[in-house]
Amino acid sequence: MAILDVRNLSVDYLTDEGSALHAVEGVSFSLEQGSSLGLVGESGCGKTTAMLGVLRLLPAEGRIISGEVRCEEVDLLQLSEREMRQYRWTRMAIVFQGAMNALNPVRRVGDQIAEAIMLHGAGTDKKAAGKRVGELLEMVGMTAEMARQYPHQCSGGMRQRAMIAMALACSPDILIADEPTTALDVMIQAQILDLLQHLQKELELAIILVTHDLGVVAEICDDVLVMYGGKTAEYASVDVIYNDPLHPYTQRLMQAFPDIDNPTSSLVSIPGYPPPLDALPAGCRFEPRCHCKSDICAVESPPLMAVRPGHYVACHQARG
Ligand SMILES: Nc1ncnc2c1ncn2[C@@H]1O[C@H](COP(=O)(O)OP(=O)(O)OP(=O)(O)O)[C@@H](O)[C@H]1O
Ligand SMILES: [Mg+2]
Repeated sequence: MAILDVRNLSVDYLTDEGSALHAVEGVSFSLEQGSSLGLVGESGCGKTTAMLGVLRLLPAEGRIISGEVRCEEVDLLQLSEREMRQYRWTRMAIVFQGAMNALNPVRRVGDQIAEAIMLHGAGTDKKAAGKRVGELLEMVGMTAEMARQYPHQCSGGMRQRAMIAMALACSPDILIADEPTTALDVMIQAQILDLLQHLQKELELAIILVTHDLGVVAEICDDVLVMYGGKTAEYASVDVIYNDPLHPYTQRLMQAFPDIDNPTSSLVSIPGYPPPLDALPAGCRFEPRCHCKSDICAVESPPLMAVRPGHYVACHQARG
C-alpha cells in the first residue's frame, strides 16, 4: 500500500494585485514505503511549491486550490493545523532547498539539532535531546563530537549531513530532500547520495528527491516525475524514463545529459525558457519550445494519459 498518495494537487500564489498564479496544477503521484521518487524539471517548474504544498508549509501567499494528500487513509489537507503537526516531521520531513546555508552561524550545530528535537518531539528534555543528537549525527556519517562545531567549521557536505540529521530527528517514514546536492562538488554530491541510499535501506525510508539533475535521479530513484510549467509532463519508472521517454520535454532533458555509453554524442540544449506563470500558453505549456508539435498543441492542453500501465504522459503526439 502507498505510504503517500498525492492526487491532483494544485497550488496558486496570490499576487498583491489580487490575481492567482497557477504554480502547480493537478500533480499526482504515490510513494511506497522504502521507495524513492525523483521530482525533476527546470528551475521554476513548481517542484518546491508542490513539496511545500504536500507538507502544508507554503508561504502566506500560497494557496492549495485542490487535491488530496493521503498518508495511509488520512487526507492531510483536511486536518486542522494541530492535527497536521502529528504528521509533519514525525511522519514526513523535509530538507529545505538551500537549508545547509541557513544554519545559524553563531550557534553550535548540535544545539540547533537539539532545538529541533525538543520543538517537534514533545516532552523530550535537554539531556535526551543531546543523546539523540549524537545518534543522529552518527546515523548520517558524522561523529557525536561534531555536535560542538559551529557551522563555519563544517564543510558544505557536513552541513548538508547535519540538515539531513535534523530532518530525521523524529524518525519520519518519508523524507523530502529538495536539491540536496546542488552547490556541492561532485565527490561530496556522490557521498550525500550514498548517504540517502543508505538511510533509505537502513530506515526503510521513502524518499522524494527534488532535483534538476537527471544523473542524480538515475543513481537512486525508483520512479521519476517530470514537471514542466507546474504540470506533470511524464511519470514512470526510472527505467522507462531513461530508455523510452515519450514526452518531447523528457526526451530533450535526456539529450541534455551526458550519456556514458555514447560519450561522443553531442549535448542538446532546449531553446527558450519555461513559460512565465502570468502568461501561460493556452495549449500545451511546452508547445512554444517543442520540436514535434502539431496544430492542436497550441490550442488544447494535453491531458495526462496512461500510455501503458505505470507510464503517464501529457502529450498529444504520444497519445496518438
Ligand atoms: N512566494 C511566491 N510568490 C509568488 N510566486 C512564487 C513564490 N514562490 C515561487 N513562486 C513562483 O512559482 C513558480 C514555481 O516555483 P518553485 O520554487 O516551486 O520552482 P522550482 O521548480 O522549485 O524551481 P528551482 O529549481 O529554481 O528551485 C515559479 O514561477 C516561482 O517564481
Ligand atoms: Mg525549488
